Formats: sequence, structure tokens, C-alpha cells
Amino acid sequence: MSGISKVGVVGSGLMGAGIAEVCLRAGLDVLVSEVNATAAEAGRARITSSIDRAVSKGKMAESEREDVLGRLRLTTDLGEFADRDLVVEAVAEHEQTKVDVFATLDKVVTRPDAIFASNTSSIPIMKLGMATQRPEQVIGIHFFNPVPVLKLVELVTSLLTGEETSRRAEEFAVGVLGKQVVRSQDRAGFIVNALLVPYLLSAIRMLESGFASADDIDNGMVLGCAHPMGPLRLADLIGLDTTKAIAESLYAEFKEALYSPPPLLLRMVDAGLLGKKSGRGFYDYSA
Ligand code: 3HC
Repeated sequence: MSGISKVGVVGSGLMGAGIAEVCLRAGLDVLVSEVNATAAEAGRARITSSIDRAVSKGKMAESEREDVLGRLRLTTDLGEFADRDLVVEAVAEHEQTKVDVFATLDKVVTRPDAIFASNTSSIPIMKLGMATQRPEQVIGIHFFNPVPVLKLVELVTSLLTGEETSRRAEEFAVGVLGKQVVRSQDRAGFIVNALLVPYLLSAIRMLESGFASADDIDNGMVLGCAHPMGPLRLADLIGLDTTKAIAESLYAEFKEALYSPPPLLLRMVDAGLLGKKSGRGFYDYSA
């Protein structure tokens, strides 16, 4: 048994909203925190619209919708996380921001056996564990976008993560959420992003050099390798700011050129062209 019924999710962006949704649909009590009321309302809208989509597709009954949304609360005060059994941090991929969140959670969460998880894709779990007095209770639970669709969760234990934390986190991911787990050591990028991000960066370099068009690069991988979407469209889905942040963490850890973000990616992020979430990236989503 995971012993987890009250979950806190820090952040309600693409990933935080998806994590909150799968926890709600698994019958849990979910409290989501955001930096201000506007962001909290946007988070609620994101979660509600995804649940409405499930209802309209006949994947959820109208009565279940009421029950699910009745278990969702949003707050702008992390102090309200005191009674949480598990907190999943899903804020922007920025080390200091995450460190600050973990230091605050350590002060406010009163349950002695609470689990402090991060959805980071690339920042070492050890750095987040050391921001707390309870590094044995800190673990990486890394979800994949779209969270309600993709089965995988990467479980990442640091050198100090306790066995009981690891066992309960796996029971939560598999037994409660119905996900499938792979385990990785605590290295930037873990398994999936260490393989995926160099591939995405190669596609961006290919486009940048004029070697091929965005459509041809993406169609090449969709039609030639049966990928569900091509690398540029996938980078747009992940978010170009997040793709850049993961590349930078990988580069900082390994100092290998294949992880270095290409100038085109940097300029697009400078320009606010962040992909699907901003309406434009390698493709236009404004329509
Ligand atoms: N929320 C809930 N359900 C969604 C969804 C979302 N955001 N997006 C799609 N779906 C569901 C649809 O409802 C549909 O369900 P149905 O078959 O039961 O009707 C199903 O997924 C397929 O969706 P669509 O028909 O609209 O579109 P596609 O068949 O093109 O699938 C996709 C869309 C699921 C996004 C698919 O293209 C895909 O899996 N792409 C690859 C995504 C991927 O690689 N993600 C990993 C990114 S890496 C990451 O997240 C790690 C991080 O650290 C960066």
C-alpha cells in the first residue's frame, strides 16, 4: 500500500495540470498551488477543459465529472500543503525555483512520512533532496506529456532516497495511477530525455542549416519510423523553453556538444515562440 490519499501538486502548467488530472481520476484528494490567483484560475481551466474533453469523448460519465472536480482545490499558499501525503513539484525547469519549493515544502508539510517528489526532467534529485532536512523522502516521479495518455513514469532515486520512499512511490505510480514504471539513476535527463533531447536538437539543427523543411523532417520520422509525431512538432508540444532548459541541464552535466541548444532554439525562446502553448513554435497553432 502506498498510504497516499492526499496529493499536492505545485504548479498547474502543462505537466502540473496533467498530473493533477490523473490523480483526480484515480480518486485522490488533490490540492494544486500556483503563484497567483490568475495562474490558479488558468490551471483550473486547463484541468477542467481536459476533463470536459474526456466527458465529451464518452471516457467519463457526467456524474463522475462532478465527483472528480469536487476533489480539486487550488491555492496560492503552499502553507496549505501541511496535511499532504505526497507532493509532486511541477514548476518550471529552473533549479533555484525548484530548490526554493522543496525548502518551503520541508517546512510546511507536517506528515512525518510524506513523500516529496519532483517531476523534473533533468535536474538532479540529489540537489532537491539537499534543500530539505529529509532527503530520504525525496524522489523523482517523472511523467510524460500528455500525462493522461502516456503510460510511462520514470522513478529516479538519489543516493539518499530511502527504500520505503521508493517502494511507496512505485506503488503510487503503478497501483494507484495505473502507470508503468522504469527506474533510472540520478543523472541529468534520466533515461528518456537523455535519448530524446539530442534527437530533438538534431532536428532543429537540420532545419537551421536549411538541410530540409520542418514538414519534411517531421514527415520523415512519422512516415519512415512510425513515430506518432515528428521531432519539431514534439518539441512544440513539450515547449521550446522546456526543451532548451533540459538541453542546458544535460549540457551542464555532461559537457557534450550533442546536448548544446542550437542558436535557432535560443532565438525562438527569446522571441516568445514557445510552441503549442504560446500559439507558435516551429508550427502555427493560432487557428
Ligand atoms: N489530454 C488527454 N488526452 C489526450 C490529449 C491530452 N492533452 N491529447 C491527446 N489525447 C488523447 C485523445 O483524446 C485521443 O484519445 P482516443 O484515441 O481515446 O480518442 C488520443 O489521445 C489520441 O489523440 P488524437 O487523436 O487527438 O491525436 P494523435 O493520435 O495525434 O495523438 C498524441 C496525440 C497523444 C499527443 C500523440 O501524437 C503522441 O503520443 N505523441 C508523442 C508524445 C510524446 O512523445 N510525449 C513525450 C514528450 S517528452 C516528455 O513529456 C518528458 C518531458 O520531460 C519533456
